[in-house]
Amino acid sequence: MDSPDSGFPIPDSRFQISLLVVLAYAYGMSNQDPLQVESLVPRRIDEPRLLVIFGGAGDLAQKKLLPALYNLAQDGLLPKKFAVLGTGRTHRADDDYRSLVRDSVQKHSRRKPQANVLNQFEQCCFYQGADVADAASMAGFAQRIAKIESQCGTGGARLFYVSTPPEAYAEIITAVGDSGLSGGKDSPTGIIIEKPFGSDLNTSTALNELLNRYFTEPRIYRIDHYLGKETVQNLLVFRFINAIFEPLLNRHYVHDVQITVAETEGIAGRGAYYDQAGALRDMVQNHLFQLLCLIAMDAPVRFDADDIRDEKLAVLKTVGTLTPEQVQVQSVRGQYAAAGDMAGYRQEKAVKADSQTESYVALRLDVANQRWAGVPFYLRTGKRLARKVSEIVVTFRREPVPLLGGLDCNWRDPNKLIFRIQPSEGISIAFDAKLPGQRMLIRPVQMDMDYNRAFDTQSPEAYEMLIFNALAGENSHFPRADAVEQSWKIIDSIRQTWDHQSKLSPLLTYPAGSWGPDAARNLFTDPETRWQTS
Ligand code: BG6
Repeated sequence: MDSPDSGFPIPDSRFQISLLVVLAYAYGMSNQDPLQVESLVPRRIDEPRLLVIFGGAGDLAQKKLLPALYNLAQDGLLPKKFAVLGTGRTHRADDDYRSLVRDSVQKHSRRKPQANVLNQFEQCCFYQGADVADAASMAGFAQRIAKIESQCGTGGARLFYVSTPPEAYAEIITAVGDSGLSGGKDSPTGIIIEKPFGSDLNTSTALNELLNRYFTEPRIYRIDHYLGKETVQNLLVFRFINAIFEPLLNRHYVHDVQITVAETEGIAGRGAYYDQAGALRDMVQNHLFQLLCLIAMDAPVRFDADDIRDEKLAVLKTVGTLTPEQVQVQSVRGQYAAAGDMAGYRQEKAVKADSQTESYVALRLDVANQRWAGVPFYLRTGKRLARKVSEIVVTFRREPVPLLGGLDCNWRDPNKLIFRIQPSEGISIAFDAKLPGQRMLIRPVQMDMDYNRAFDTQSPEAYEMLIFNALAGENSHFPRADAVEQSWKIIDSIRQTWDHQSKLSPLLTYPAGSWGPDAARNLFTDPETRWQTS
């Protein structure tokens, strides 16, 4: 572990952009020191860029990507020479696409759009239908790209964004590569790809191999939108830039770590995808494992994309794979049943009537390295749970009980460090204090840092952060191929037991709107442990 006074490594230029973005967003608009920070903020990306979106008129594009791009435009963070080319199987005229862009921004932008910015943004959006299975259509598509590049002066680095159902990924990547649009291995052209990155180790390895045929790893941006969330990005800053917390984050002081990503929504409208995926693939393999890595990783050698990702990979390697015996005692899976006016999972559209898919999962994992050996990491996520909340709670060991002698109580809440990722973003510390009065009574109190109160600015959406980073060629906030594969190894080992020795870890039901199966408590190694949320 780095000692706090060993000097913070100087970021190299690739990480600088990202770190500065974090700092800019964290401190940039705060009232504290605007002038100093203003000079640090990269106002925009200098190189021209053409962003080609497969699925350019799809749901994700309309709800997230186009509004995110618009907001980057409003913040002046897009390159001066910039164009968006939407594409998909259907044909539509540029003007129709521009109206769709306008509607999406008006409906889904986090800020009220400014007319002049929106007009300008709209003008740099184009559309061209393409059939990736047809070489002639791809040739036409390539011509259109060349035309836009000369018209908008965006020649050079292109960025492809694959925002389609996963079944189409392979065909799109192959078509882009085979038609020469990826520009060869030395080209600065990159590709953004949405999750899921495969559905198991084999499919993710195949996808990575295909991507590597046409793009170099530093130009592959795998989207895990949790890595674009403010509080998630802040985990690195909070842990490694502050001297006061990091020395405590290890087995000497920590009792357990809990990562909760709970949702109140069911899977309505996504049954066909979700019933194939389940909570383990949909949430744990990516979002929860990323949170696990960020809270458990050691300090990177430097704040460089690869050094950071090396440390994350080390965490996943340490977790290793789970044997059937471990899956039996370290995993709980559940499916919501109807409750009140909420339908049960099996009544959702496009879900099999006898579906065995889990909508809830809880795990106990060991990060068995020198820092964490013996500290249980509890992860849980589920649909139709009691409250929408994403948090990491680090619970510290209690002081020895004899110290309580002489106090009028025999119970103390453990100290906790709580990272609130959503809905109310912030960080809290829970500790005990003496209640005012003659008697020595103690009560837990909380010290809070709340993003909204601390900084006089609205956080950008995760997609704004991630798209900006990809346009800037900075990839510390994107999972690397080896870590993705490593995470699938863990997931596959759990699935293996669930699918083939299901009696060891049967699928349980829980009422919609509850906190999941009661049996999730059985994962705790200490009878005093409780599931924690702030
Ligand atoms: C997605 C999952 O990746 O993340 C969804 O596919 C889930 O099932 C969503 O609802 C949760 O994201 P957030 O940002 O709302 O926590």
